[in-house]
Amino acid sequence: MSTSGPLVTDLASPAENTAASGGLRLGPHPVALPYFLAPLAGYTHLSFRTVIRRNGGVGWATTDLVQATHLVSGTRWARELVRTSPEDTPLSVQIYGGVTDHLVAAAHWLESHGYAAIDINMGCPMAKITGQGGGARLMCRVDGACDLVGAVVSAVKIPVTVKMRLGWDRDRITAPTLAREFEQLGVAAITIHGRTRQQGFHGSVDRTGIRAVVEAVERIPVIGNGDVKTVGDAWSMFTETGCRAIAIGRGALLDPWLFKRLAQAEPYRLAGEPLSAVPEWTPTPADQFAFLRAHFGAMVEQHGEFSSCRQFRKFAAWYGARLGMPEDVEARFRILETNAQFEALVREIEARHGERTDARPTIEIRVPNGPVEYW
Ligand SMILES: Cc1cc2nc3c(=O)[nH]c(=O)nc-3n(C[C@H](O)[C@H](O)[C@H](O)COP(=O)(O)O)c2cc1C
Repeated sequence: MSTSGPLVTDLASPAENTAASGGLRLGPHPVALPYFLAPLAGYTHLSFRTVIRRNGGVGWATTDLVQATHLVSGTRWARELVRTSPEDTPLSVQIYGGVTDHLVAAAHWLESHGYAAIDINMGCPMAKITGQGGGARLMCRVDGACDLVGAVVSAVKIPVTVKMRLGWDRDRITAPTLAREFEQLGVAAITIHGRTRQQGFHGSVDRTGIRAVVEAVERIPVIGNGDVKTVGDAWSMFTETGCRAIAIGRGALLDPWLFKRLAQAEPYRLAGEPLSAVPEWTPTPADQFAFLRAHFGAMVEQHGEFSSCRQFRKFAAWYGARLGMPEDVEARFRILETNAQFEALVREIEARHGERTDARPTIEIRVPNGPVEYW
């Protein structure tokens, strides 16, 4: 992984075998497996994408959302978010903003720097994003959203996709209408998180709502999203919604081998076998220790020691149960300061592996909480 080289060094990596995914494509790109890593701002940086891809099973990945104006003006953080490597393919960069010209400029920038695809964020519920007219706010005005998306699609040759929610709230479910219009404008795929902006991350995913989006389009793939944490969740998402692929965010933090499990189960799903026919697979302790070191090592390479220690603290609560960290060791990861402390903690996990019997994560990932109006 390069921290100083060109942002994109190799684009020639279309998936070779699309048979398993029933000919799934994103524009000109064949996609080998219908399991996409969803963007999780603050988590899905190059380092995380790299180690999750190495575990196997990721059909496509998307960066954290990046502000269009920051990308073009070249702020250090925006360029860090779009940093990639030859191993990190196929990849979309997700951009956001409420001003068409800004998004068009960002799309030009991405195309001219060799990125494979662009994803437009139309789902973010946070006030700092919607207040600028971006994220889920775009879903409120069908005409405005279509003008913006149409301008981005016509500005570039690379595929443009859109990730959105069902609508702003229960009374404004605009996703099916928007999906239909976007397809006509040339959008290559739609990812749909089955909640409204009003719901934030609360309540359950409305799979009937996702199905309505699937039924609204003629031929582009719809990627279902929300609360998929197991192979069983993914299989039922396919059957209940008719979606062509599934985007997984928090499930990949809870179980870094979820994509691998899905890939291993895929032949059984395609053959119509029951879930019970899929052989059980679990990572060995050695796999788990290697994963921890690989993720932290990649972070340090990308962000340096100081920032990586701070960033890794929030991963510990997710990884703890699955990677067999005793609770007190997990607590010490949450105040991590140095590389040496990291290594000492991993050694302690190695020595005390198997001590932790509770497989539930200590805390759920922090999502915005409280009344949505105040986010
Ligand atoms: C911490 C966090 C950060 C997120 N960042 C983004 C983002 O940058 N862009 C985006 O489109 N969605 C973002 N999302 C939404 C997720 O991509 C996804 O739609 C949502 O979490 C539901 O899927 P999941 O249950 O598989 O996580 C974020 C969600 C969380 C919890």
